[in-house]
Amino acid sequence: MVEFTLPKNSTLTEGKVWGKPAGATKTREFRIYRWSPDDDSNPRMDTFTVPTEDCGPMILDALLWIKDNVDPTLTLRRSCREGICGSCAMNIDGENTLACTKGMEEVSGTITIYPLPHMPVIKDLVPDLSLPYAQLTMIQPWLQTETPEPQKEWRQSHEDRAKLDGLYECILCFCCQTSCPSYWWNPERYLGPAILLQAYRWLADSRDEATGERLEILEDPYRLYRCHNIMNCTQTCPKGLNPALAINAIRAMMVKRSAF
Ligand code: SF4
Ligand code: SF4
Ligand code: FES
Repeated sequence: MVEFTLPKNSTLTEGKVWGKPAGATKTREFRIYRWSPDDDSNPRMDTFTVPTEDCGPMILDALLWIKDNVDPTLTLRRSCREGICGSCAMNIDGENTLACTKGMEEVSGTITIYPLPHMPVIKDLVPDLSLPYAQLTMIQPWLQTETPEPQKEWRQSHEDRAKLDGLYECILCFCCQTSCPSYWWNPERYLGPAILLQAYRWLADSRDEATGERLEILEDPYRLYRCHNIMNCTQTCPKGLNPALAINAIRAMMVKRSAF
């Protein structure tokens, strides 16, 4: 379970309680983290009661119901509503996951929602992801080649293509990144599981010809080697990916490289 950490010098307070809508029979209670840069008050937990007969089954459906029917200022990111864009990642019932693929039925009792932990918050459930995106840029997540471009397309055998399975599916939701204790303690220096999985996605690509340069970027006491195999990342990934395995694969490449 990932615990949410409050911003420095702040106290979490009890917020507004919105009662049961008139006529509702089946309901779920939500406690949702609220904080806005527009006022300098402490963060608070607002309580909402959502009539489940009037909205879809997913946590995101309930959040949108609250936005549409109770409090339009509730702020969150979302786009695809089907686990593809990664933008609705948040901490639900103590776990980092996607609001659009997490069913209300999967959580018992009151559903508690915080933004992704250990990241600065822009507003309510929206974390500031500037740092991990800057780190993504650092690992140069695009195909790099030296041989002249083929007339039609870069070819790849089925076997080599299969080596990207478990890597290309990453949607950059940062659920793993923000559940990693090593990243919590060294966010500026350790690249974190999401970025390292992306780095390995290009190292594992048979068409890429920048392996040496890519490993050089990662050869640093912090960027790669701060992973202590705690495995929170792999446990939390809503796409079932294994960033810890990718990190160990990069380490193996480093060892192989230093042997020559
Ligand atoms: S295995 Fe490594 S990257 Fe994953 S949570 Fe643990 S320390 Fe972080
Ligand atoms: S590895 Fe999984 S949890 Fe991490 S960013 Fe990619 S999809 Fe999200
Ligand atoms: S809205 Fe796109 S992953 Fe949830």
